[in-house]
Amino acid sequence: MLTVSIVGASGYAGGELLRLLLGHPEVKVSQVTSRRSIGDPVTIHHPNLRRLTDLCYVSMDRLEPCDLLFISLPNGLSMQYIQDLIGKAGRLIDLGADFRLRSLPDWEEWYRRPHLHPELLKEFVYGLPELHREELKTARWVANPGCEAADSILSLWPLVKHGLVDPQSIIIDAKMSSSQAGRQPTEASHHAERANCVRSYQASGHRHTAEVEQELSLSGKACRVAISATAVEMVRGLLVTAHCRLSPGVKDKDVWRA
Ligand SMILES: NC(=O)c1ccc[n+]([C@@H]2O[C@H](COP(=O)([O-])OP(=O)(O)OC[C@H]3O[C@@H](n4cnc5c(N)ncnc54)[C@H](OP(=O)(O)O)[C@@H]3O)[C@@H](O)[C@H]2O)c1
Repeated sequence: MLTVSIVGASGYAGGELLRLLLGHPEVKVSQVTSRRSIGDPVTIHHPNLRRLTDLCYVSMDRLEPCDLLFISLPNGLSMQYIQDLIGKAGRLIDLGADFRLRSLPDWEEWYRRPHLHPELLKEFVYGLPELHREELKTARWVANPGCEAADSILSLWPLVKHGLVDPQSIIIDAKMSSSQAGRQPTEASHHAERANCVRSYQASGHRHTAEVEQELSLSGKACRVAISATAVEMVRGLLVTAHCRLSPGVKDKDVWRA
């Protein structure tokens, strides 16, 4: 039985993770943290977990050692706390963006701030089993993919890997749901702003571009990707449509086969 704790369990991603872990036969969830709801039962934020757990939130400084620690904090916070957190667990999985890119210049360009622990960037394994299954088996630290990135990479990888498309002209159109923005409402994510409308969220410059290019380029071909993201009236989920130019001679059948 693995003992697992979650930092940031009152949020949307942390809550979904908790739901999955509570149903896992080889996991015991030991502790869950929140900054604002210390002492409250987790079911206050996640009523779907009633009768499944009586866990209450603790503060991060009360975390005890465990086998595996998940971090589910807004981007930019993992790197602030990482030094304390890596001492708490044999293995650590970060759901945020702080350790997803291997290249420091890329990270600082896309996230527009200095990275606080550049020495750790190459230590994290990108948490997409379809591409990194063997490394993940023994990885100590894992950085899970962003949501648009995971969908984009999974849809494009077979095509890029088999050389079926031009890797320099990939266009990704992502339809986003409101829960992707997390529990804290902003003007762009608030129900009143989003309901009954389709709204261009980010026509260009989406940060997940960097990780999609990083991972697709593992095929040995440098990839250039443009992502445009549109907010649609949906609470959960995400739909990615990737547009590519087929390489000369490639037929529909070749694409389906891949
Ligand atoms: N939402 C998604 O669909 C999704 C999908 C894939 C990956 N992710 C990634 O998952 C991570 C969490 O996203 P989310 O959507 O779950 O966000 P969220 O709903 O806003 O939750 C954020 C969590 O972090 C805690 N927190 C916020 N500021 C903090 C601080 N200064 N110190 C300590 N704890 C703090 C919050 O606790 P309190 O508010 O209770 O204090 C809450 O538990 C992000 O990195 C995001 O990129 C999210």
